[in-house]
Amino acid sequence: MTELERLFAADRAHFMHPSTHAHDHASGLLPGRIVTGASGIRIEDHEGRSYLDAFAGLYCVNIGYGRTEVADAIYEQAKKLAYYHTYVGHSTDTIIELSSRIIDWSPDGMKKVYYGMSGSDANETQIKLVWYYNNVLGRPNKKKIISRERGYHGSGIVTGSLTGLPSFHQYFDLPIERVKHTVCPHWYRKAPVGMSEAQFVAYCVEELEKLIAREGADTIAAFIGEPVMGTGGILPPPAGYWPAVQQVLKKHDILLIADEVVCGFGRLGSKMGSQHYGIQPDLITVAKGLTSAYAPLSGVIVSERVWDVIGKASQEFGAMGHGWTYSGHPICAAAALANLDILERERIPENAAQTGAYLLAQLHATFDSHPLVGEVRGAGMLAALEFMADKDERQPFDAGLKIGPRVSAAALRRGLIARAMPHGDILGFAPPLVTTRADVDEIIRLAREAVDEVATEVAGATATA
Ligand SMILES: Cc1ncc(COP(=O)(O)O)c(C=O)c1O
Repeated sequence: MTELERLFAADRAHFMHPSTHAHDHASGLLPGRIVTGASGIRIEDHEGRSYLDAFAGLYCVNIGYGRTEVADAIYEQAKKLAYYHTYVGHSTDTIIELSSRIIDWSPDGMKKVYYGMSGSDANETQIKLVWYYNNVLGRPNKKKIISRERGYHGSGIVTGSLTGLPSFHQYFDLPIERVKHTVCPHWYRKAPVGMSEAQFVAYCVEELEKLIAREGADTIAAFIGEPVMGTGGILPPPAGYWPAVQQVLKKHDILLIADEVVCGFGRLGSKMGSQHYGIQPDLITVAKGLTSAYAPLSGVIVSERVWDVIGKASQEFGAMGHGWTYSGHPICAAAALANLDILERERIPENAAQTGAYLLAQLHATFDSHPLVGEVRGAGMLAALEFMADKDERQPFDAGLKIGPRVSAAALRRGLIARAMPHGDILGFAPPLVTTRADVDEIIRLAREAVDEVATEVAGATATA
C-alpha cells in the first residue's frame, strides 16, 4: 500500500466529513481529494494538480493563500502568548486592538464585539442576545426570529433553523418553533413572469407584513438576513429591497441582524455589505473574511442601541451567563489583525469592486445568450449562473439531471473550482478578492468550456429521447 493509499483508507475509515454522502465516501465512489498546498488563488492536490480556486475555499480565503505575513503574525503570537481566556474582564492587546479595528470597518452606530470561532456559533450568540434583550426590556413574548427561505446562517440547532434550506432541516426535527421564514427575494425565480422588480419588492414587503400580522408584532424579536444571499444561490437583492424591509422592521420594533459572514470585509467592494446596501443593522455577524480563514474567528458586533440595554442589565441581573473558552483567542486575533492590515494596505475591497464588476460583465457577455443559462447575476466578487431547461418560461431542469453539479465537475476537470450551490442548478463564483482581470479571463474561458460540454450532453440526450 502506498502512503497515499494508506491516507485515503484512513480518511474513509475515521474522518467524518461535513456535508458529505457518507456511503459514497466510505465506498470510494466519491473519490475525495487531499489538498496539499496553496498559493495565491490556486490550490494543489495529492496528484500534484493545480486548480484555480474561484470559490476561495468556502468564500473565505479573501487575501489568497500563502500570505506569510499572516503566518508570521500567528507564529509570533503563539510564541508570546498562545492563549489566555477573556472571562471576567481579562484581555490581550491583540483582541483589544482588533475590537476597535472591527468597529472602524462597521457601519455607524456599532459599539462592541463578542467573539466566537464560527459563523454558526456567532449567530447562536446573536439569537441569545436578542432574547436576553427582550427579557431585560420586560417583553418575554417577543422572541420569534424571521429568516428567509434559502437564507443560510449555519447548521446548529437555532442557526440550522434560521437557514432556509430544507436539506438542513430534514431528519433533524428543525426548524424550531420560534423561527419563521418569509419569502426569498429572488426576483428571477420567485416573481411571476411580467412582474417588475419594483412590484416584486412590494410583494416581498407585503408577505413580510402578512407574516408579522399573523404571528403578532409583539412576538417577533428580530429579522436576520445576508446582504446578498450566499449558500442559497448567490442572490443579490432586487433594487430597493433593504430600505423597504428596514421600514417595516422599524415600524414593528423588530431588530435587524445583518449576517455578514460572506459579505463582510470587502467581498462586495465596500467594508461590509451593510454599507453597500445602506443597511443600518442592530447586530452584525462576521466570520470568514475577518481572518481570510487563516485561523477560525467570528464576531458578533453589537450596536449602541442594543448594548445600552444589555450592558446596563448587569446592574440588575449580574454577569451574562454566556461564554466560550476560546472567545477572543489571541492567535486568531493576531491573524485577523494581519489580515485587516493586508486588506487596507493593498486596497483589496477596491479590487473586489473593480474586478468583481469585470467578472460580472464578462459572465453577461459570455452567457446571457447561452441556451443553458437562465440568469447571470452578481454583486462585488460574488457571481452565479443559473441553468434552466427553458429560460424564457423560467422552467428549471429536472433535479435528477444534476445539471449544476455536472457543470461544476466539468469545470473541475479543467482545473477550475466553481461551486454547485446546494439549491437549484446554480454555479457559484466567489474568488479570492485579490483575483486579477487576467484570472477572470481564465475563469470565464474554463467555465464556458464546462457549460458547453454539459449543454452538448443535454442536447444529445434530448435528440435521442
Ligand atoms: C451567511 C453565513 N452565515 C453563517 C455561516 C456559518 O458559518 P460557519 O460555517 O463558520 O459556522 C455561513 C457559512 O457559510 C454563512 O455563509
